[in-house]
Amino acid sequence: MARLKVAVLISGRGSNLQALLDAAGRPEFPAEVVLVISNSASAYGLERARAAGVAGLVIDHRAFPDRAAFDQAMDAELRRCGAELVCLAGFMRLLGPAFATAWRGRMINIHPSLLPSFKGLHTHRQALEAGVKLHGCSVHFVTPDLDDGPIIVQGAVPVLDGDDEDRLAARVLTVEHRIYPLAVRLIAEGRVELSGRLARVHGGAGQTESLLNPDF
Ligand code: GRF
Repeated sequence: MARLKVAVLISGRGSNLQALLDAAGRPEFPAEVVLVISNSASAYGLERARAAGVAGLVIDHRAFPDRAAFDQAMDAELRRCGAELVCLAGFMRLLGPAFATAWRGRMINIHPSLLPSFKGLHTHRQALEAGVKLHGCSVHFVTPDLDDGPIIVQGAVPVLDGDDEDRLAARVLTVEHRIYPLAVRLIAEGRVELSGRLARVHGGAGQTESLLNPDF
């Protein structure tokens, strides 16, 4: 069976990219990473792509007169590589509405909170300040509205006494590395159906895997 062609957009460290590369390195995984694009030449994730033998490309947003021109350049490269799914993995540029609309249903993001709580930046600080007892991460379809698209998979962790932002972030990150490949697999297997504002996951363990992480 042909594997789903995935492009990953990054800006930095790329640990979620690594999780996707590791998953795609297994022959039974139904998706492959065909291209990594970074808006920053110094992103460590580009090293990870190179080490995995995956094409890496820098499209520096500062080289374009405006957001639309940058988005167009990205769109052209994504089409050129035949991407069927775009994964944002720590990609720190806002994408314009035309780009988000063009890739609607074919572009996903991982966000470090249990959406719809704690959109935007500093999500672990937001969680600590809110005093929530459960925190986590979400993989969702990208829409023109920030961190607002249909949720595909979530993973939860407890907030523990004595947590600071770094400890909480590290606990969430281990779960991010599990749910991002899971979400890609579910999409590649055709088990995710978009229905209005909702993403429905069909069959298998997709739904239950979204519940509390049993490791904690
Ligand atoms: C992750 O916490 C992800 O949820 C957020 O940005 C961070 C990227 O980390 N969108 P990495 O570059 O994947 O290590």
